[in-house]
Amino acid sequence: METYEIFRKAKDGKYAIGAFNAANLETLKAIVQAAHKLRAPVIIEASDGEVNFIGKREVVALIKIYREEYNLPIILNLDHAGDLQGCIEAIEAGFDYIHFDGSKLSYEKNVEITKRIVEVAHSKNIPVEGEIDHIQGSSADHRQENVTGVQKKELYSNPVSARKFVDETLVDTFASFIGNAHGLYANAKRIDIALLGRIKEALPDKFLSLHGGSGIPDEDIKSAISHGIVKINVNSELRVAFRDALKKVINSTEEVAIYKIMPEVIKAVQDVVEAKISLFGSANKA
Ligand code: 13P
Repeated sequence: METYEIFRKAKDGKYAIGAFNAANLETLKAIVQAAHKLRAPVIIEASDGEVNFIGKREVVALIKIYREEYNLPIILNLDHAGDLQGCIEAIEAGFDYIHFDGSKLSYEKNVEITKRIVEVAHSKNIPVEGEIDHIQGSSADHRQENVTGVQKKELYSNPVSARKFVDETLVDTFASFIGNAHGLYANAKRIDIALLGRIKEALPDKFLSLHGGSGIPDEDIKSAISHGIVKINVNSELRVAFRDALKKVINSTEEVAIYKIMPEVIKAVQDVVEAKISLFGSANKA
């Protein structure tokens, strides 16, 4: 199934596709096994850092094999890509979706590069996600830190500016900043659902994504989906599950065979992914 069709099905069916970051074979396995078990379409996210770690062609090849082996709609996305060349290389390598994040650039430069990526991607029927309002935070465990200011309301997306941006660039998906931020914090991240409703009204013909999916209360996630979100990004919760499980296993055994150490770690990540898929309503939609 092509990427557009997977997204359209989610929009029509009012559920969200989980977009989970994979950094290595173990996290990739955890995500794919969860999607297979629950028969869910899924997006594998690889940021520039993750792609540099696994390798572009390597991750494309692995996804191709998993897609065939499990007969699953698996989309491979370059997450928060920061430059034109990286996006073009990913398209050439076989990525199915591109998220260009030019939100730190000037508006004009962001539009210029996003437009160029859209031209290249659309010539291969690949959707593009764009962003103007820089989503704050970082995908890490900040719960013990005294962090303030990741939810600055003055930086939240504006529906009129969002419309202008999608019209100028022709992106397919808009990444809005509505209280979501990357990372886990001492306080739950609450979503401004009324603002999301206005963004949805302004962009009825587009797909909407929600980044910073870790640490958002389930009720806000459900509400966001009912207000048009079709793609939810989750990274920090997977990273924390991976690290905690790995620590526990390493501290409890003298085992050195990697294939005996890793299953418990994979299971911990898979449990998180399964819970998110169930929450997002995408189980049995493959
Ligand atoms: P979290 O780390 O908060 O889950 O956000 C992930 C994300 O949005 C990746 O693009």
